Amino acid sequence: MLLFVNASSKRDGNTTAMAERLLEGTGYETLHLIDYAIHARGSSLPGDQWPRVWERMCAADVLVWGTPVYWHGMTGTLKTLIERMNDEPAERIAGTPLAFFFQGSGPGRAVTEVMHTTIERLTDLYRMPLLGIADGARGIPALRQRIVGPFFAENL
Ligand SMILES: Cc1cc2nc3c(=O)[nH]c(=O)nc-3n(C[C@H](O)[C@H](O)[C@H](O)COP(=O)(O)O)c2cc1C
Repeated sequence: MLLFVNASSKRDGNTTAMAERLLEGTGYETLHLIDYAIHARGSSLPGDQWPRVWERMCAADVLVWGTPVYWHGMTGTLKTLIERMNDEPAERIAGTPLAFFFQGSGPGRAVTEVMHTTIERLTDLYRMPLLGIADGARGIPALRQRIVGPFFAENL
C-alpha cells in the first residue's frame, strides 16, 4: 500500500492536488496529519495520537510525504512528526521507500536547501530508500517516474 501523508492544514489544498498529479492511478491512501493530535516531543498531555500515525506509516509499502512551505520550511506538523520519530525504533521503518515533495508560493533557495538536508539526513538515519524530492510542480513528473516505475507499473 502506498500511503500519502498530507502535512498541509487543508484536506483539499494545493498539496493534495499535487499528490493526485504525482500518484494518480496508484490506488494510494491518504493520511491527513490534521486528523491526528500529534503532541510535541516531550509532552505528557493526554490524547496523543502519534502511535496511530506511526503504526500506519510502518504498515505502508511506500511512503510519500507532501508539505506546503509555511514560514520558510515544512509545516510544524511534519516537523513534529519527524521529531517524534526520534523515540521510535528505526528498524520498524527501515527499508520503506520515501518520496518527498514540497510546494509554496515562492520558496527561496534556503528553503530548498533545508528541505533537502532534512529529508536526506532522515532517510539516511532511518535507512529508508529515498525515491526522490520534488521541489514544486516542476519536479512532479520525474518523481512520478521514480514511484510508479518500480512499484506500480503493473497497475497503470
Ligand atoms: C501560514 C502560512 C505560511 C506560509 N509561508 C510561506 C513561505 O514562507 N514561503 C512560501 O513560498 N509560501 C508560503 N506560504 C504559501 C503556501 O506554501 C502555499 O499557499 C501553498 O500552496 C499552500 O498549500 P496548501 O493549499 O496545501 O496548504 C504560506 C502559507 C501559509 C498559510
